[in-house]
Amino acid sequence: MATSLTVNGQTHDVDLPDDVPLLWVLRDALNLTGTKYGCGVASCGACTVQIDGEAVRSCQVALADVWGEVTTIEGLGTPDTLHRLQQAWIDHQVAQCGYCQSGQIMQAASLLAENPAPSDDDIDAAMSGNICRCGTYPRIRAAIKSVTEGA
Ligand code: FES
Ligand code: FES
Repeated sequence: MATSLTVNGQTHDVDLPDDVPLLWVLRDALNLTGTKYGCGVASCGACTVQIDGEAVRSCQVALADVWGEVTTIEGLGTPDTLHRLQQAWIDHQVAQCGYCQSGQIMQAASLLAENPAPSDDDIDAAMSGNICRCGTYPRIRAAIKSVTEGA
């Protein structure tokens, strides 16, 4: 039986087994390839999306367990109106290879929705599970700081 899933404001009927990870539903069934596969075991953050605004590792959430509306990097802003973090990422030239960055931005967006004025420690704590093999951490923090309240 197809599972109904709302992603980036659109509802889809997905005809896949209940235990398929959300990551592969997004990438293979819905062609939303901005969300990346890194480790498959919740250790890198490359697959981070939001469910009802909460950052989650989509490699670890089975299709049947998706409890709310999914937002991916494709739905965070629009080509005409970037999310403020996407603009900050451009302004700070954060990306190097770029592979981890959609997960980084989705994680940061959840942080700012919860805490509009995070300290450096708050940022480091929230972002600590998102690995960047290119070492862009200083630019990630600078970009987040640039859009925090009072920046
Ligand atoms: S692929 Fe999901 S955390 Fe690494
Ligand atoms: S920019 Fe290359 S892994 Fe983060």
